[in-house]
Amino acid sequence: MNQNIKTIGIITSGGDAPGMNACIRAITRSAINNNIRVLGFKRGYNGLIENDFIELKSQSVSNIIQRGGTILKTARSEQFKTKAGREKAFKNLEANQVDALVAIGGDGTFTGASVFIDEFNIPIIGIPGTIDNDLYGTDNTIGYDTALNTVVESIDKLRDTASSHGRLFVVEVMGKDAGFIALRSGIATGAEAILIPETTTYINHLLEKLANEQAKKKNSSIILVAEGDDFGGAYKVAEAVKAVHPEYDIRVTVLGHIQRGGSPSAYDRVLASRLGAGAVDYLLKGKQDVMVGLINKELSLTPFSQAIKHNQKLNTQLLDLADILSI
Ligand code: F6P
Repeated sequence: MNQNIKTIGIITSGGDAPGMNACIRAITRSAINNNIRVLGFKRGYNGLIENDFIELKSQSVSNIIQRGGTILKTARSEQFKTKAGREKAFKNLEANQVDALVAIGGDGTFTGASVFIDEFNIPIIGIPGTIDNDLYGTDNTIGYDTALNTVVESIDKLRDTASSHGRLFVVEVMGKDAGFIALRSGIATGAEAILIPETTTYINHLLEKLANEQAKKKNSSIILVAEGDDFGGAYKVAEAVKAVHPEYDIRVTVLGHIQRGGSPSAYDRVLASRLGAGAVDYLLKGKQDVMVGLINKELSLTPFSQAIKHNQKLNTQLLDLADILSI
């Protein structure tokens, strides 16, 4: 056991994700259970640089497990990309006797953490908190399940109005440069086509499929596009379809930041709680420079260098399944 850890810091960094508050709660209460003081630094790495923090007591994290967003706020820190910024951050951690850090975020968060550890050797454990689910070393990132349910609920609503008007909707979802949200929500909503960055979009294949559908007189169609798809996004796809199939009454919906909000699902609350408590346990066992994830329902550690570089592999066989089921 690492008896030297008396105080830990927490940051939430990068795009926020539903479940981050559940994770902050689990880290705080697990640490307090081990007689460890907890400081929550605001707005990601900026809070370390500006020495902007609150001490988190057990009651500080009451009644937040069900809330989306993050009580610590989040940001992407340009200053932390500079050595001077990281030096200020480290001096503040020293001044507050912070012995270790838990960083909840995505690959940008862990990239910064890795550099920080190399320069100042402060123990850091990362927790995957991003709706994108694009981190290697965990089956799910915190927020992914909730975002999927938000997208499915939104597309089900669009299907109602699409059916009433006999329209084709092109729907754009988030995923920075990953198609996890698009792929699984596309299957869950019976989308007629799913366009993702991991595979080249052959627009002619899509247009031929739509020609067949027109022949079959489908009363509504949904084309799901990940924002990072190589064809250029929902509006570009809609233009291409309209040019060849003017018979389609087309509308475009970009779901945007709605996908980042909302009360976390039960799955995300439990995942966040397990990863938060696990991070504290692993710090006490002397682990650092790793991300804690859940693989096949078991806690697992992955070095930051792998979690960042080895992008989570997307199961493209699911694309074939979606194609077959949406005939
Ligand atoms: O990384 C999570 C994410 O929601 C991406 O899916 C999206 O592209 C990006 O953040 C949006 O960033 P911002 O909130 O800064 O606009």
